[in-house]
Amino acid sequence: MLVVRKTVQMAVRKHLSRSFSASRTHLQERKGLVLGVFEKEAEEGGLHLTEAAARFDQSLSGKLSDLLKIAAPVLKKGKSRIFYGIHQDFPCVAVVGLGKGNEGVCGAENWDTKKENIRHAVSVGCKILQELEVNHVEVDDCGDAKSAAEGAVLGLFCYDQLKSKKKTRVTTQLHGSADVDDWKKGVVYAEGQNLARFLMEAPANHITPTAFANTIEEKVAPYADRVTVNKRPKAWIEEQQMGAFLSVTRGSEEPPVFLELYYNGCPDKKQLPLMLVGKGITFDSGGISLKPSQSMDAMRADMGGAATVCASIVTAAALKLPVNIIGLAPLCENMPSGKATKPGDVVTAKNGKTVQVDNTDAEGRLVLADALCYGHTFNPRAIVNVATLTGAMDVALGSAATGVFTNSDWLWEQLHKASVVTGDRVWRMPLFQHYSKQVTDCQLADLNNVGKYSRSGGACTAAAFLKEFVTAPHWAHLDIAGVMSNKDEVPYLRKGMSGRPTRTLVEFAAGLAHSG
Ligand code: BES
Ligand code: ZN
Ligand code: ZN
Repeated sequence: MLVVRKTVQMAVRKHLSRSFSASRTHLQERKGLVLGVFEKEAEEGGLHLTEAAARFDQSLSGKLSDLLKIAAPVLKKGKSRIFYGIHQDFPCVAVVGLGKGNEGVCGAENWDTKKENIRHAVSVGCKILQELEVNHVEVDDCGDAKSAAEGAVLGLFCYDQLKSKKKTRVTTQLHGSADVDDWKKGVVYAEGQNLARFLMEAPANHITPTAFANTIEEKVAPYADRVTVNKRPKAWIEEQQMGAFLSVTRGSEEPPVFLELYYNGCPDKKQLPLMLVGKGITFDSGGISLKPSQSMDAMRADMGGAATVCASIVTAAALKLPVNIIGLAPLCENMPSGKATKPGDVVTAKNGKTVQVDNTDAEGRLVLADALCYGHTFNPRAIVNVATLTGAMDVALGSAATGVFTNSDWLWEQLHKASVVTGDRVWRMPLFQHYSKQVTDCQLADLNNVGKYSRSGGACTAAAFLKEFVTAPHWAHLDIAGVMSNKDEVPYLRKGMSGRPTRTLVEFAAGLAHSG
């Protein structure tokens, strides 16, 4: 009797320990799979599965397509269905709608619809699986492994560092495809944009100018053989006679930093560099021309230009792009105080031009003016500056596209071509003399930091102001104020700061590398 009881006890214990370890494994690794399906029927009138989905279906003797027909005769673009327990390796399988499948570059939309549909669908599948606490997702390439990777990595990003309750951390992997190189490229592009999102979303008391510079320094550390960092302090900025930049930082207790990144990726050491300049206002209160308090918190992302520029250089280094790039980021806060610049003050920029600061909230153009003057000293092949410069840009285009003001048709072509591939679009804006007249007609100085007719054409007068500090034949100013944040417009980005247009900058640099 005693022996029997002991045997039963042992069996129970064994069973308990087995189920305990099973549930632990279960917690540690929950695998999911994302597969694509097109909206259009296949030739034979059945479902039109992607190659990977069709193979998966075959391995289950058609069970997936049977279930799909029951669950969703037509799966619309960006919609999904989840199947549980149909495959022993994947407890959760998300099938996502890719649209018609015969799309490509669309002239009217200025993007590649097929790539956008893949980014969208894959992001939807990954996010659903994340909600189900799946922590490893394999992803169908859906016909374009790079776009699939971008959809996965961009879709899963969420800034929850400062919350106690965090979303499930999900690792991703390509499923059933040989296009591993393209997949990896997509992951690097998306991680670049996620770095910019992280910097932009982070609160201004965490990402101060110093913290921004240190973070970038850490991010480029693995590429120390090809990237050099200079964190220039206030004394250096003074030596450089950057009076316009200094006038913005005056009101703040936080020290400014002028960040320089040198990426040497070109074997030909003499190749002229591409110059990227990013507005780095880590918080824009407006200064004495104080902004209304509503939505002022969003001005923690007023360093979006610096964030996207630095993130794209980190990405170029990770990709080992054969091109030389210099990144400049004037970093400071714009704050009111007894020391702050006052409306009507006149300051002198690095090139000797005087500026009447009639509105201290138009500070971006001041920090960029000095950075642009300094940028010219490197004799770059092209200068591209990126800035959350004007609310007027948001009024003009909203979040559809970055506004590009450029003196160079060649540069416009390069940027436009890159943006069609990435889906992070650009739209050309004017640099007419009409606008220049409105900033040069100034009572006390050479230039006024706001246009004569204040709000009219605000994005264009800001660009015209910058043009006064440019002599280079290939210069573009990208106003990213409209694309700074995402509500739900870009379906593969969650709500929050967007990190746009990092991938377009990387693709543009890759294009230059390609053309030599
Ligand atoms: N950082 C703002 C522009 C901005 C607004 C970016 C909304 C993103 C979202 C910039 O410094 C600014 O305040 N510009 C003023 C210029 C005006 C005073 C001429 C603006 O747009 O109102
Ligand atoms: Zn401002
Ligand atoms: Zn600003």
